[in-house]
Amino acid sequence: MPHSRLSVIVTRKLPEPVETRMRELFDVRLNSDDHIFSREELVAAMGQADVLVPTLGDKIDAGVLGQAGERLKLIANYGAGFDHIDVQTALSRGIIVSNTPGVLTEDTADMTMALILAVPRRLKEGATMMETGQWDGWSPTALMGHRIAGKRLGILGMGRIGQAVARRAKGFGLQVHYHNRKRLRVETEEALEATYWESLDQMLARVDILSVNAPHTPSTFHLLNARRLKLMKPTAYIVNTARGEVIDENAMTRMLRAGELAGAGLDVFEHGREVNPRLRDLQNVLLLPHMSSATEESRSEMGEKVIINIKTFADGHRPPDQVVPSML
Ligand code: DGY
Repeated sequence: MPHSRLSVIVTRKLPEPVETRMRELFDVRLNSDDHIFSREELVAAMGQADVLVPTLGDKIDAGVLGQAGERLKLIANYGAGFDHIDVQTALSRGIIVSNTPGVLTEDTADMTMALILAVPRRLKEGATMMETGQWDGWSPTALMGHRIAGKRLGILGMGRIGQAVARRAKGFGLQVHYHNRKRLRVETEEALEATYWESLDQMLARVDILSVNAPHTPSTFHLLNARRLKLMKPTAYIVNTARGEVIDENAMTRMLRAGELAGAGLDVFEHGREVNPRLRDLQNVLLLPHMSSATEESRSEMGEKVIINIKTFADGHRPPDQVVPSML
């Protein structure tokens, strides 16, 4: 299929260089005002395009896929996570799904580390004090947080991002522990000085900081449920830059409010933009607007990956980042 005739619809505004390249290569419809597509718009787009480029806010479930047009053959997701797409149903309808892994690993790990440092060291409270003019000068007892070095960091999900967090954590003197579907190879474990816990429950009971780096799948939904959260020490912190659905947000919020957890740094939420209001007023909770991959570099490289996936598909080959059933 020649690229020039390939009809591509992009659901959100992408970085300028990515859009320029797409205009050169495809018959592309861009979203210049960056509005969020309604379900109806999504269905209409899927009826008109050969290729849809959605992002994580577009829920492409079986209902939407059921209305896809004959010509839709590829959903080239702009993003690494694909939990908003019913990939099984897409595949059963002959629609391939691709994503953009690898290019946001380092930036997401940096943000994870930023939260790991920020919450125990009470950065939010310090910054608020300065912004509101409430600082009376240095005091021996003000804003005492907790030392990072020597603490146990538990990483839940030791894929690319989890491992990038582990590399950074080592540099900060944290002891790295992890739980993963599959144990890492011994050489990788040794290089990261990481201790594997087959039992998530046992790891949770021992760590001082927990970093969630696992994708949202049916088997990780509420993996951190009320029972498991209660296994954690009341002095422990949680950081989540992966997906909100991995944690039972209400249970975590109740525990944070009751002082049964020491604090949290959250870049993602169980219900997307609908952030639990009871999290907002907690001084020991730092909330970010899902910005871990928000660097010029990551977002451009994500666009380049989308373009390569589309071009490869148009040339009659399998997109390099095709989502396959073993990844679900
Ligand atoms: C992704 O690509 O899935 C990320 O969550 C975006 O930051």
